[in-house]
Amino acid sequence: MVTEELDLTGLRRVYGRPGSRLFYTMVARNARHWGWTEPGQSKWRCWRAQRRLEDVLGRKLALPAGSRVLDAGSGAGVVARAMAARFGLAVTGVDVLDFHVREARRLSARAALEGRTAFSWGDYHRLEFPDASFDGAYSMETLVHSYAPERALAEFHRVLRPGGRLVLLGPMSTVPLEEMRAGDRAVLERYLDDMVFPGAKRYHAGNLERLLTEAGFQVEEALDASANYAPTAEALYAYFRVPYALLRSWGPAEKWLNMRSVVEMYGVRQYIAWYVHTAVKPAAEPAV
Ligand SMILES: C[S@@+](CC[C@H](N)C(=O)[O-])C[C@H]1O[C@@H](n2cnc3c(N)ncnc32)[C@H](O)[C@@H]1O
Repeated sequence: MVTEELDLTGLRRVYGRPGSRLFYTMVARNARHWGWTEPGQSKWRCWRAQRRLEDVLGRKLALPAGSRVLDAGSGAGVVARAMAARFGLAVTGVDVLDFHVREARRLSARAALEGRTAFSWGDYHRLEFPDASFDGAYSMETLVHSYAPERALAEFHRVLRPGGRLVLLGPMSTVPLEEMRAGDRAVLERYLDDMVFPGAKRYHAGNLERLLTEAGFQVEEALDASANYAPTAEALYAYFRVPYALLRSWGPAEKWLNMRSVVEMYGVRQYIAWYVHTAVKPAAEPAV
């Protein structure tokens, strides 16, 4: 079902269940994103791959130290801290889950990065920041949660200064759901609903670039990085296939949503692409 409002209850279920919290804190070390692997690099070292993905983001942002950057959907703030510590950026994170905001603040204080990272509650479809507040903005695997991607992109455009840069990283289907084989579509759609990914029903590899252009951005690059994400997917599948099967035999699969997504999505991976879109808000608006 596609709705045009924030499904806070669903998001709390996805990220707040004890099984999810355990997965994200212990297994993913607070990051809620995948990893980046180059040919020749080991796929088994998933934490390293996560750090490399953060570095890809920092390089695509390509902003000088001290630049003000919005992290749309900051989770526990792992990416924000990476941008602050490794690229010298001043990052403001927003997230709709209060426990993520609290966690991000706590971990930033522990890392002595509270001066360069700030976190607040916020829905990236209706940001409370004035126009042109930021030099850059990014979404690390959060646009899939968007209930209105056009509105989210319009907000990113509004809060960026002219010349400001936007980087979107994340998964999407290779084709619209209607074009998939029925059985595969059913598996994928159930996953999108359970994980509260309404955005992934609205955009796909074939139309996100156009949506960015319609929001007023100049798309610098639409990089299909599926080959760089695939090794992490393979490693996670190998790590979790058996534990997930065991856990399932003890209780409902919903309890282990994140592990389930890792395992079940592997079966329809031919329909999942991972992209890095880099776009710029033009320095001067085109004349009408
Ligand atoms: C997959 S996690 C990624 C978190 C973080 N970017 C990272 O890589 O660790 C997605 C995050 O987006 C947040 N989120 C979902 N919808 C949102 C919205 N409309 N506005 C702000 N945050 C949102 C979720 O609460 C969650 O923390």
